[in-house]
Amino acid sequence: MEQLKHKILTEGRLLDGFVLKVDNFLNHQLDVELLDAMGAEFARRFAGVKIDKILTIEASGIAVAAMAARHFGYPPVVFAKKTQSLNLDADAFETEVYSFTKQQVYKVRVSRRYLKPGERVLIIDDFLAHGHATRGLIDIVKQAGAEPAGVGIVIEKGFQGGGKLIRDAGVRLESLAVLKSIADGKIEFA
Ligand code: G4P
Ligand code: NA
Ligand code: NA
Repeated sequence: MEQLKHKILTEGRLLDGFVLKVDNFLNHQLDVELLDAMGAEFARRFAGVKIDKILTIEASGIAVAAMAARHFGYPPVVFAKKTQSLNLDADAFETEVYSFTKQQVYKVRVSRRYLKPGERVLIIDDFLAHGHATRGLIDIVKQAGAEPAGVGIVIEKGFQGGGKLIRDAGVRLESLAVLKSIADGKIEFA
């Protein structure tokens, strides 16, 4: 998606060679017009795919998923929770996610109320790095007896291997921008 790549090149900032900061439009401040265009692009790429629900993970995935829903005929958007909550835990699908950035395992949960057998679920997230979070969401969809209809990612770090994990799980992946490399202070797209 050219508009997104342009935004990354002009406003993204590189940290320690492995992290792309996009706080000014995606992870802290939100560019709603760009988010809306991303939603339209996801809808174009997944045209003809039946989607009953969109699933994402808090926090940064929520804005992307909610804006995308506008372009898929307003399916419900469910976000997986990272924090514990007494009410939720009793009746939730749960999976463990290893965070490479934080070097720790955390739990992700979705209430059984909001994912039902047979539902076709589009998974949306802001970043795909090593793919552990996304793979966790696929696991939750499968626990529910629902079907992963696809994965839509805003920025895929192609050099961190997450894309392979998703494809190996047999799920279609569409990333709006794929980074080939961000080494030596230079951003290269695939
Ligand atoms: P993985 O799930 O793909 O394996 O990635 P990892 O554990 O390494 O990522 C942890 C968090 O960091 C995730 O956000 C992920 O989206 C984000 N992330 C990974 N690489 C980058 C990067 O280069 N730039 C930015 N801006 N984010 C990156 P999170 O912890 O779920 O936080 P939130 O932003 O959704 O609240
Ligand atoms: Na993130
Ligand atoms: Na995220």
